[in-house]
Amino acid sequence: MKTLLVTGGAGFIGSNFVRHVLETTEDLAVVNLDLLTYAGNLENLTDVEGDARYTFRKADVADPVAIAAIFEETKFDYVVNFAAESHVDRSILDPGIFVRTNVMGTQVLLDRAKAAGVERFLQVSTDEVYGSLGPEGAFTESSPIQPNSPYSASKAGADHLVHAFGHTFGFPVVVTRCSNNYGPYQFPEKLIPLMISNALEGKSLPVYGDGKQIRDWLHVRDHCSAILTALRKGKDGEVYNIGGNAEMENIRVVELILEALDKPKSLIEYVTDRPGHDRRYAIDPTKTREELGWSPSYTFEGGIEETIRWYLEHRDWWERVKAGEYRNYYERMYADRGA
Ligand code: NAD
Ligand code: DAU
Repeated sequence: MKTLLVTGGAGFIGSNFVRHVLETTEDLAVVNLDLLTYAGNLENLTDVEGDARYTFRKADVADPVAIAAIFEETKFDYVVNFAAESHVDRSILDPGIFVRTNVMGTQVLLDRAKAAGVERFLQVSTDEVYGSLGPEGAFTESSPIQPNSPYSASKAGADHLVHAFGHTFGFPVVVTRCSNNYGPYQFPEKLIPLMISNALEGKSLPVYGDGKQIRDWLHVRDHCSAILTALRKGKDGEVYNIGGNAEMENIRVVELILEALDKPKSLIEYVTDRPGHDRRYAIDPTKTREELGWSPSYTFEGGIEETIRWYLEHRDWWERVKAGEYRNYYERMYADRGA
């Protein structure tokens, strides 16, 4: 049995990944290390709590003493680093915590993982480090790094550190960069769960600017299988882009949700645009397909239908989430946008 440290495993993608590893492998034990910020929710993992291969540790990735103690206690074979502040709009309100968690936290983990001699460190990054595209083309792994938001700048900083540890110390690192995820357990501050839950509550659906920004949607389960594949089959020092072949304008995503829920388009409210809003993201997945043999299994149409059903069936989950600290953030953010 090998031991895998998953940081940020109580968040959206991390919790789906912990479940995916426990369901699809027999040779991996998982330690989930998470600070349980506003975005971390152990309710996402109640179904795996009794699994003998699963352990939870509450800790801050940017706290070198706490992280050193955890690496002393357990011999980790692999690290997959999801822990991050992940929401672009929050990074515009308060960039400092993004630098602390995303940059310093990654450095603390790299230091400890290197000292412990882990076999592989996988950094979960994002296509946002490449900046924004015009109407044509797609991001490849060699596209220039041109982040535009404090969030993406902090993720790019982390990627550079990961690369530096590989290059300077010969430390075995892999970086994955994926497009926008959607699926079960996504915190309802992000576009898709926000629009589904607001529509179900009869609230307005705040669309930024003209709504014609394009994102390339990836189902979270596809993302999880890609990460596990990259962990097992990736080459040291390499970057792998992960996409869902599903580019769509935001307004079309919102309309699809309203149609599926049989709600009126009059719920759509155009609000002030996000400052510095990236216009278009698109992933060229050729390298990942050819070198790792991985492709997405979901279509956007199938994935969004399944996701809407999940939010319909888990109303208690998102109502509890929305009743917490998120309510203060929501009122502040959308009041500033004239909603
Ligand atoms: P999320 O916000 O849902 O979860 C983040 C998790 O990290 C939470 O459980 C939180 O408690 C934990 N965390 C935050 N600060 C921490 C700290 N200091 N120490 C320990 N744990 C801490 O985020 P997500 O959407 O699941 O994203 C996970 C990762 O994937 C992030 O690194 C993000 O940059 C990356 N990513 C996300 C997407 C997406 O569409 N959601 C796309 C590309 C990349
Ligand atoms: O591309 C990968 C990135 O995708 C990840 O690295 C980030 O962690 C993740 O949050 C996501 O970033 P985005 O900014 O693209 O996601 P978000 O869900 O916040 O917004 C998606 C699009 O929808 C974006 O163009 C902004 C728009 N939007 C968002 C919200 C919350 C709206 O129009 N209205 C909204 O209320």
